[in-house]
Order: sequence, then C-alpha cells, then structure tokens
Amino acid sequence: MINNTPHDNMIIPTHVAFIMDGNGRWAQKRGLKRTEGHKKGSESLKQLIKDINRLGIKYATFYAFSTENWKRPDDEVSTLMRLFEDYIDELMASADKAGNSRIRFAGDRGRLSESLKSKMAECEEASKDNTGLCVTIAVNYGGKDELAHAAREIARLTNEGYLTLEKITPELIDSLLYTSGIPEVDLLIRTGGEQRLSNFLIWQSAYAELYFTDTLWPDFKNKHLILAIEEFSRRNRRFGGL
Ligand code: IPE
Ligand code: IPE
Ligand code: MG
Repeated sequence: MINNTPHDNMIIPTHVAFIMDGNGRWAQKRGLKRTEGHKKGSESLKQLIKDINRLGIKYATFYAFSTENWKRPDDEVSTLMRLFEDYIDELMASADKAGNSRIRFAGDRGRLSESLKSKMAECEEASKDNTGLCVTIAVNYGGKDELAHAAREIARLTNEGYLTLEKITPELIDSLLYTSGIPEVDLLIRTGGEQRLSNFLIWQSAYAELYFTDTLWPDFKNKHLILAIEEFSRRNRRFGGL
C-alpha cells in the first residue's frame, strides 16, 4: 500500500532537485500536442510545491528549460516561454498562500525576452524576504554554462587583483554559482524514465542521492514524492567516510 503521508522513519532531505521530464510523451500518449503536456506539467508543479512545503523540505529546485532546449522547434520554445511568464504571474499571486515561499531563478537570462526577465526580477524582489520554502526555477540553465560563468568571474577577479590562487576553493566556486547560498542537493529526482543528468546541477549534485522514475512529470504527485523520500531514507550516505 502506498503511504500518502509523511511518517516517523522518513528522513526529510533539505534540498530536493527535480528534472521535470516527460511532458511531451505524456501528451503524445493521449494524441495531444506536446505543448499540452507542458501545460499539464506546469499544473503538476503548482500542486507539488504545496506538497513539498507541507513535508517540511526547505529547498526545492526545478529544471524547467535547459541551455540545450533551444534546439527544439520554435513553436514549442515560444509556448514554453509564454507558460513561464504565466506561471510567474501565478506564483507571485500565490507566494503567500503557498506558505511564504521565496522564489529564485537560475540560469543565463541573456537570451530571455525583456518581459520574462522583468517578471523574474519582480518575482525575486517581491519574495526575497519570505522565510518559507526556497523555490528555484532553472530557466536557460546549463551546469557547464554555470561553471564557465564562474570561471570567467574568477579570472576577472584575479586579473583585477582581488583574488590570489589559494583563495580559489570549492566554497568560492559555490558562491559564484546561480545557486549561491543554497545548500548542495540531497535528493535529485528525474521523472520520465531517462537516467541521466542532462547538464543539471552537475556541481551541486556531487553527493546527491539519485532517484529515477518512469512516471512522466504531469503524473508525478505527492504519493510519488513520498516514495522517493522513503527510498532516500533507506540510502546510506557515507560522503567518502565509513
Ligand atoms: C520536459 O519534458 C520539459 C522540458 C524539457 C522543457 P519534455 O518536453 O522533455 O518531454 P519528453 O521527454 O519529450 O517526453
Ligand atoms: C532535461 O530534459 C531538461 C528539462 C527537464 C528542462 P530533456 O528532455 O531536455 O533532456 P534530454 O534531451 O532527454 O537529455
Ligand atoms: Mg525530455
């Protein structure tokens, strides 16, 4: 029997990251357009954020659009961009009701439209003092791009005389990532059946427990999250020790 509620022997991870995959296949299975899958997926996300809050998870990061997803047909990309804008509007309207959440975005904003960029900035500003769940949405995010960006920043600071070589530590690199201030990933969940990271949080997931499920993102609900956390609770995290 699937247990739908948190229970005593569950260890609640501090930071859970999600690769929200399988929207297109969800739609195709129903004879719908792929973009219908993205719409359904964004509804799933809304409900899941409430569930995550209730479970007491402190940080949740969601992969919404990768630096590689620009390769998709123009109409799919533009529908996704429109959905993000609508989604941010709703997030702002419900941030308080959703339990005082703080919303951040991770990724290179350079290639995003002015209207999307200004909505992102507005949403971050409006929620920055909230003390509840920290939600990060990764849009035009790539782990390699993020590390290259940090490397350029280190080179600049070194050239300008602010940094010496011995100050270049993992902690310094952490502080230069889009996720600065957010603890490393404890549990990384990928829906949709693929077993790969697809360039998501490659630095931050160095010691994450990986959980792959065939469930497609629009079908992923609280009960699936509980199953993932139960599995996480059974893992023995050694971090190189004994
Ligand atoms: C994930 O679903 C959402 C994005 C990558 C934007 P997909 O669109 O990759 O769905 P599948 O993998 O084709 O089913
Ligand atoms: C990863 O899914 C990106 C997001 C979920 C946003 P993809 O569907 O783009 O990944 P690949 O192409 O199967 O690796
Ligand atoms: Mg996919």
